[in-house]
Amino acid sequence: TGLSLRVLDEVDSTNAEVVRQIANGVDGVPVTIADCQTAGRGRRGRAWSSPRGQNLYLSMGLTFHGGFAVLDGLSLVLGVAVANALEGLGAEGIGLKWPNDIFLPQGKLGGILVELQGELQEGVVQVIAGIGINVHMADAKEVDQPWSSLGGFYPGQSWSRNRIAAAIINAVQDSVRIFAEYGFQEFRAPWQQRDIFAGRSLQARDGTVNGMGCGIDEGGNYLVRTESGTVAVRAGEISLRVS
Ligand code: BTN
Repeated sequence: TGLSLRVLDEVDSTNAEVVRQIANGVDGVPVTIADCQTAGRGRRGRAWSSPRGQNLYLSMGLTFHGGFAVLDGLSLVLGVAVANALEGLGAEGIGLKWPNDIFLPQGKLGGILVELQGELQEGVVQVIAGIGINVHMADAKEVDQPWSSLGGFYPGQSWSRNRIAAAIINAVQDSVRIFAEYGFQEFRAPWQQRDIFAGRSLQARDGTVNGMGCGIDEGGNYLVRTESGTVAVRAGEISLRVS
């Protein structure tokens, strides 16, 4: 099926717009891109800084067969897809911070917000994947963590938001096809190559886990080697950071 692409000047959140595209009975894969967002949202209830004209704000509606269990690996699969797309455009050395933040050495380059839309019918799950990439981010007043942008980190290159969007949409569609057919195993190695937690001393935000980052298991859980053995942390349950 083809894409049903909406390109908007301004929107509350591109994720919310894809929900509306679906509610209006969209044909094909719904995709929304906006020049700015007035209520961009991040993970864990945070806001996503979305200044006009500077960055990429993109959302896609994706459908999966196999029930909610499929969703466990999906965030990581999307991280690999975005990293592949950006590297294909010349952004070498993209890192991934578990579960799915896009990183450069200076700080966070982008984020992915996966929201569950619902079950279309028994076992057929629909999600909204929202991807934000800092392209030419200049005014980042309200950003509360170290950040980076493609233009800032790779200044020798001209970064076109349209080309980035096209590369990401293609990479997401390819990755989702591979994920649906072969499962998460295809993504474990490519994810792990970009793991910025590997070998670092980590701590769970809630204090429950302390240890060394050791990559992911076959389901995409993050492995931390602690004094009492290796612990597998599940995405969405605990949030890890470098201690
Ligand atoms: C994160 O917290 O790291 C996830 C950020 C996701 C931001 C993107 S921008 C496009 C889409 N629309 C939103 O409101 N959020 C996502």
